[in-house]
Amino acid sequence: MFPKEVYQNRRNNLKKLMLDKGQKGLILFLGNKDVPFNYTANIYPFRQDSNFLYFFGIDKPDLAAIIDLDNDKEIIFGDELTIDDIIWMGNMPSISELANQVGVYKTKAITDLEVTIKQALKQNRDIHFLPPYRGEIKHWLQRLLGIEYQYTTYYASVPLIESVVALREIKDQYEIEEIERAVHVAYQMHTTAMKMAKPGVKEQQIAGAIQGISLSHEGPVSFPVIVTVNGQILHNTSYDNILQQGQLLLVDAGAESRLHYASDITRTTPVGGKFNQRQKDIYQIVLEANKQAIEAIRPGKLYRDVHLLAARIIAQGLKDLGLLDGNVDDIVEQGAHALFFPHGLGHMLGLDVHDMEGLGENYVGYTSTLKRSSQFGLAFLRLAKQLKPGFVLTVEPGIYFIPELIDLWRREGKFVDFINYDKVEQFKDFGGIRIEDDVLVTDSGARVLGKPIPKEVEEVEKLCAEN
Ligand code: GLY
Ligand code: MN
Repeated sequence: MFPKEVYQNRRNNLKKLMLDKGQKGLILFLGNKDVPFNYTANIYPFRQDSNFLYFFGIDKPDLAAIIDLDNDKEIIFGDELTIDDIIWMGNMPSISELANQVGVYKTKAITDLEVTIKQALKQNRDIHFLPPYRGEIKHWLQRLLGIEYQYTTYYASVPLIESVVALREIKDQYEIEEIERAVHVAYQMHTTAMKMAKPGVKEQQIAGAIQGISLSHEGPVSFPVIVTVNGQILHNTSYDNILQQGQLLLVDAGAESRLHYASDITRTTPVGGKFNQRQKDIYQIVLEANKQAIEAIRPGKLYRDVHLLAARIIAQGLKDLGLLDGNVDDIVEQGAHALFFPHGLGHMLGLDVHDMEGLGENYVGYTSTLKRSSQFGLAFLRLAKQLKPGFVLTVEPGIYFIPELIDLWRREGKFVDFINYDKVEQFKDFGGIRIEDDVLVTDSGARVLGKPIPKEVEEVEKLCAEN
């Protein structure tokens, strides 16, 4: 856990933001429960809810907490261990001991939560809660509040969502250190994968090796790892292929730190350790987009504009190779480049790999005046708003040749003035390249977090040759 004051300050800031918005009543936080894997007693590794971790820090299942805005009170609800729990899991600190560590001095049994909530409802008090994303939490909310299961997300408190985003989006020194620790683990994962990228090796072996590295350092991976020679499939989590000379291996993977902060890094490596000319040409464009985007990051800048800068670099590069034609600004404005770069430049990173996505992506990445575009490609940009010091985000441009999308657009006659389809046909077996770093917005610019992970062509080839 962080020092007690960190959690106290976070809760005090939350109270202040809510009161400043004219809100009253109770804020209800429901912690996560253990989830059965294939039968009740065989559970998935426990992952606490990120908002519960942020405000209350206790990494245990079956807890809830209330902040009473009207009476300035905080209570953690949870049951003490039974003798059976102690026999099977060992003794652990009591709920009140854990609560003391995060500066909460009142605890109650979990059954008292229902009593407290029913009483508040009877008094017509407001009960603010965040959008639930797990079925059992929706059921819990239904039982406590009498809201139908399927409407529990709909009744989540918008002032609470906005307040939580305003706090969590700015990372303090403790959080930056945690994320950096997670990037250090990612360094080990990615350099290992690069060295393993040899003909005859299975994707599965590399996927297993890098997950083991994560687990043996601080915690599990921060999301299902992507280890694929089919990098054109953006979230490909099958590992069925055997690597062959001439292919590219795309690895998108990160770790969780001990306190559950995430890293999220992508590297693309030539199988066998040497890029061919065609691969090098495309790789250099993506690398240029990655580096210039990082260079362009500074407080006050819209991340949408950084995305569009990366898009223009990609369009210019592909134009130089004869895959695109025409004016680069027109290509990007009309969205023709999205055939090759169909996703956004990046997202916030923190306790969640797509930080706070469970609260609603538009609350995190957009504002009341900056709305999400509906254009293919730009519509998938998760973070568009003005950058502030303390934001941590990913920069992850890519170029992909997706045969099905190429065929579809060609059939539909899309952007025939911009896209040289005959030339693009020759790249249908190319796969995809993405290069992703984790970046802190500083007072004057940006800092790439962690020890630099090789990404220049020569660095990657040198590392591959090491083993
Ligand atoms: N690294 C996976 C993603 O950003 O969606
Ligand atoms: Mn990412």
